[in-house]
Amino acid sequence: MIPLAQPVLGEAEERAVLDVLRSGQLSLGPRVPEFEAAFAERVGARHASAASSGTAALHLGLRAVGVSEGDEVITSPFSFVASANAIVYERAKPVFVDVDPVTLNLDPDAAAAAITGRTTAFLPVHIFGYPADVPALEAHGLPIVEDACEALGAVHPDGVKVGGRGHPAAFGFYANKQLTTGEGGMLTMGSAEHKERVDSERNQGRAPDMGWLDHDRLGFNYRLTDIACALGLAQLQRLDEMLADRARVAGWYREALGGGELGLPCEDAGGSVRGWFVFVVQVPRDRDGVIGRLRESGVQSKPYLPAIHLMSYYRETFGHREGEFPVCEDVAARSIALPFFPRMTEGQVTQVAEALVRAI
Ligand SMILES: Cc1ncc(COP(=O)(O)O)c(C=O)c1O
Repeated sequence: MIPLAQPVLGEAEERAVLDVLRSGQLSLGPRVPEFEAAFAERVGARHASAASSGTAALHLGLRAVGVSEGDEVITSPFSFVASANAIVYERAKPVFVDVDPVTLNLDPDAAAAAITGRTTAFLPVHIFGYPADVPALEAHGLPIVEDACEALGAVHPDGVKVGGRGHPAAFGFYANKQLTTGEGGMLTMGSAEHKERVDSERNQGRAPDMGWLDHDRLGFNYRLTDIACALGLAQLQRLDEMLADRARVAGWYREALGGGELGLPCEDAGGSVRGWFVFVVQVPRDRDGVIGRLRESGVQSKPYLPAIHLMSYYRETFGHREGEFPVCEDVAARSIALPFFPRMTEGQVTQVAEALVRAI
């Protein structure tokens, strides 16, 4: 079976993790600030705070910009459910708007039209690693929290790396991501005040100069271990190579699948650079049947992504229905993530492409 994803882990990761185990300091140790500093430098951010997941990083980012009960946050329905869930954690309301049919990211005009007196922030998602049009949102002067969980390595048209614009931006390090720590996340940001608040809130609300078991605000346990940070540091060393490998695999897929009736990921345009995370295609019909037939051919695939507003929790809580966001719904109903990982061979790509054409 060709798997959907496969991390690249080697001796450097083994050594890094063993060093932490031998040091005896498994948490709240030196690897956390080291990983934060190296990651911030990699994306051109002033500050970074490690967190236990991308979702935790998003949650901390929303709190940092002041999102709270009754607020509205404008976001994309075409995302992994965590981006909307993080808004709901604060009893704020995710206000979905439709996506651009080419980039599949938040449509900036639709986002502008959705602003009300209660709007406190935008939460754009760089879906499938393609940079969302954050500069267009910046024109409105509202806080922005970026979901960059799929977008490590992406670059905006003005040359600024995703995560480096100064807005809190959340990255995720689950095992299928460009860089993995097993589970984990990082919030990058430009504001020292945000960094101070985020570091305290991920650690049960404890300020850096406070004693253990002393807490001056509400917080969470969203810490990342030193084991995970050591793994992340080792992964950062090979990040450029892994990103280049992913881009090469994507190129093979384009060659093998182009010219037919499949919808392929948009090409980089206008200076945007995708940080390749997944290779998602839109099939013309019978998506679930195609997934089943791929499985019979030894190829793993999955529907990616279902529309958030049509999930039962969001229907029941916020009264969403089919037809509200036609571009998102059409794309979501036809999308399939194919096997995609740095060490995928050209032969495997050919095998997947042939199986896909047969399955359709
Ligand atoms: C777009 C998006 N947002 C948020 C997340 C949440 O990240 P994590 O699984 O690390 O909590 C993911 C991860 O899959 C994601 O793809």
